[in-house]
Amino acid sequence: MIRTETRDRIATIELSRPDKKNALTTAMYAAMTDTLAAAESDPGVRAILIHGARDCFTAGNDLKDFLEGPAGASQALRFVSALSLVGKPVVAAVGGPAVGIGTTLLLHCDLVYAAPTARFQLPFVPLGLVPEAASSLLLPQIAGHARAAGWLLLGQVFTAGEAHAAGVVTEIVPEETLLERARAAAAALAVLPPESVRLTKQLMKRPLAAAVAEQMAEEARLFAGRLQSAQAKEAMTAFIEKRKPDFSRF
Ligand code: COA
Repeated sequence: MIRTETRDRIATIELSRPDKKNALTTAMYAAMTDTLAAAESDPGVRAILIHGARDCFTAGNDLKDFLEGPAGASQALRFVSALSLVGKPVVAAVGGPAVGIGTTLLLHCDLVYAAPTARFQLPFVPLGLVPEAASSLLLPQIAGHARAAGWLLLGQVFTAGEAHAAGVVTEIVPEETLLERARAAAAALAVLPPESVRLTKQLMKRPLAAAVAEQMAEEARLFAGRLQSAQAKEAMTAFIEKRKPDFSRF
């Protein structure tokens, strides 16, 4: 489930589904999208904070939802699109696994704090899918093509240190103080002149805004096709059945 709270001008979104490693369901995406919209329109909110558990950010999209069809994927798309467009600053705190959308959503946050335990992974190709959330545009841009290819084509796990070196993470923070540090950053944003914060964020995003929206739409078109494919079904069924996938017949 998603827990939300607005306190001290900070709207907080907490991912909390511990038995499934905070895997995101259709309902969770819808709740997050609603919270973003409410935060954006509430003049009392000056910053948004997203976090999971200290030792688990999120295992990404719920794979059972993916197997059930494109409805889940479209809620995910609504959410990342809303996140990419939100005008207020967004801070994220990441510890433990941040898989799939757990990593791609960070590319739309402004300040990302990670514990040394953070493990990022974009297993879209191994799952028979393609990247989403404009990560196929933003990650090569941020990290360079060669590094992004290891993460997006091979689906290699990368560490907090690697994410920091690549510019995906703002700062590495000890696990015990991760949330405190992220909250302090959100609090610092919340007392700055809001219009300057909004305009500066807008200026930073402006050069890529149209390309991001276009890439997201193209990714979504290809993603929907892959989601229905036998290759994706084999990959996801294998995960649920706790076995290795077999792509030799394709
Ligand atoms: N969707 C649905 N269920 C998931 C899930 C997901 N994305 N990720 C984990 N779970 C479930 C597992 O099936 C397991 O359920 P069970 O206890 O009923 O068997 C439970 O969460 C715990 O997962 P487990 O794999 O045992 O935890 P772990 O600590 O060994 O590994 C991860 C954690 C995140 C590395 C691993 O769960 C993983 O790789 N998950 C899939 C990530 C993924 O491919 N996401 C989609 C990206 S597009």
